[in-house]
Formats: sequence, C-alpha cells, structure tokens
Amino acid sequence: MSKAEDERNRQAGSFGVVADAYERGRPPYPTDAVTWLVPVGARTVVDLGAGTGKLTRALRRPGRKVVAVEPSAEMRAQFARVLPEVPLLHGTAESIPLPDTSADALVCGQAWHWVDPERAVAEAARVLRPGGWLGLVWNDRDVSEPWVAELDQILRGYAAAPTEDRQADRLGRPFEPVQSRDFRWKHLMTPGQILDMVASRSYVITLKPETREELLGRVRALLDAKHPVEMPYVTKCYRARLS
Ligand SMILES: C[S@@+](CC[C@H](N)C(=O)[O-])C[C@H]1O[C@@H](n2cnc3c(N)ncnc32)[C@H](O)[C@@H]1O
Repeated sequence: MSKAEDERNRQAGSFGVVADAYERGRPPYPTDAVTWLVPVGARTVVDLGAGTGKLTRALRRPGRKVVAVEPSAEMRAQFARVLPEVPLLHGTAESIPLPDTSADALVCGQAWHWVDPERAVAEAARVLRPGGWLGLVWNDRDVSEPWVAELDQILRGYAAAPTEDRQADRLGRPFEPVQSRDFRWKHLMTPGQILDMVASRSYVITLKPETREELLGRVRALLDAKHPVEMPYVTKCYRARLS
C-alpha cells in the first residue's frame, strides 16, 4: 500500500473518535437536493457510509424503506441513538450486505471520496435494480463569503481536505452518464457547532493533539465576535441511472 493510500485509509477510519462532535456540528441536507437525488417513488433506499444518519433523516418518506450501511462501530452507535428504528448494517460501499437487485436507489453522503470507486461502482450495480439510481452528495462551505474564506484559509494552513478528486462525475459503465446539480442554502449555526464541524473533519481528527488544539484556538478567535451565524453551503449532487 502506498503512503498516500495508507493516509487515506487512516482518515477514512478516523470519524468514530468524534462521532458526537460529528452529530452536533455537521449540517443536515436540504430537502430539494435530496428530492433531486432520489426519485420520489423509490421504495427501498440504501444510505452508504451513513455515519450518524445526517442524510438518512432526509431520505425518510411514508411508504419508503431506508437502510443504512456504515463501517465504523462508533458512528453506528451514534446512529442507533438518533434513529433507533432505521435498519443499520455493518458494511462498506465496496461490500454492501444486501442481496442483488434489492434497492431502488443508493446514496452516499460526504463519503464517496473514501471508497474505491471501481469496486463500489460494481457493488452498486449489483445491489440496484435495473433503472435504479446512484446518488452522491457533498455539503461544501461556500467560500465566496469573506469570513468563510478566512475559515477555509485557516484550515488549509494546517491540512488539506481530501476531497480534491471525488471521482463523482465519471462513474462509468454500467451507469448512464452522470448528471450534476448544485444547491445553495444557509444553515444557522452557533460558534460551538462550527467548532464541532471543524473538529469532525477527518484531516483535523488525524492531526497531532497539540496542532489540533492550536488550529481550534485560531478558529475560536475567528468566531469570537460572532453570535449564531448563517453558514453558507453549496450542496453538490451527482446522480446516475443504472442502465
Ligand atoms: C464524512 S462521514 C459522512 C457520514 C454521513 N453520510 C453524512 O452525510 O453525514 C464519512 C463516513 O464514511 C464512512 N466510510 C469510510 N470508508 C467507507 C467505505 N469504504 N464505505 C462506506 N463508508 C465509509 C465513515 O466511517 C464515515 O461514517
């Protein structure tokens, strides 16, 4: 395994230690984005890399079965506290513990950059019924707002976000060409929630403790003068139909 792959795996597996901060600090998903990603008539929907269930909550509809798949035991524990009634399975996007052609839609929120896309695409094609949809989504901070750009600058000074190549726009066969759409919205957050959001980023979790404290101190100083504030987000959505 190369050093880069090793680091990627370390970060992909890091979320469990901050599962509670993740639940407090990470934003939800806007309804119009989720409605665009998953056909309204989808009866069985699987949330891959469900984490604490942020996306799962937005997927639920009367008459629809939502199943969550998540590799981290700590994230599953947090999920089970928040959504005890939703079926939750131990698995990954590369190895989904569900039968062939059993789902109308698969979604993956903020997690596709952690998977091996070749294996995950093959696995998604196995689990989806023909004509089913694979939807990928990321909530990105909108850095066109100056204070958010400043926050981003601080974070980049300490570590690079592992999201540069998400491989979302080229899923390839047997999927039809990927369609994409952005949704802009704002999420009211307290400074404490913003700190939790920062503390729950994989590249912050895996910093040395003293470096992480220094970074959080700088973010605290930036937020000092702020009361609850509207964090601007761009929710980036990608969807493709199984041919
Ligand atoms: C940033 S969190 C996203 C959680 C949730 N989907 C959300 O939108 O808040 C990334 C999640 O992907 C999970 N993960 C890491 N590697 C994975 C893989 N190969 N397959 C599926 N999930 C994975 C992590 O355990 C973590 O819960």
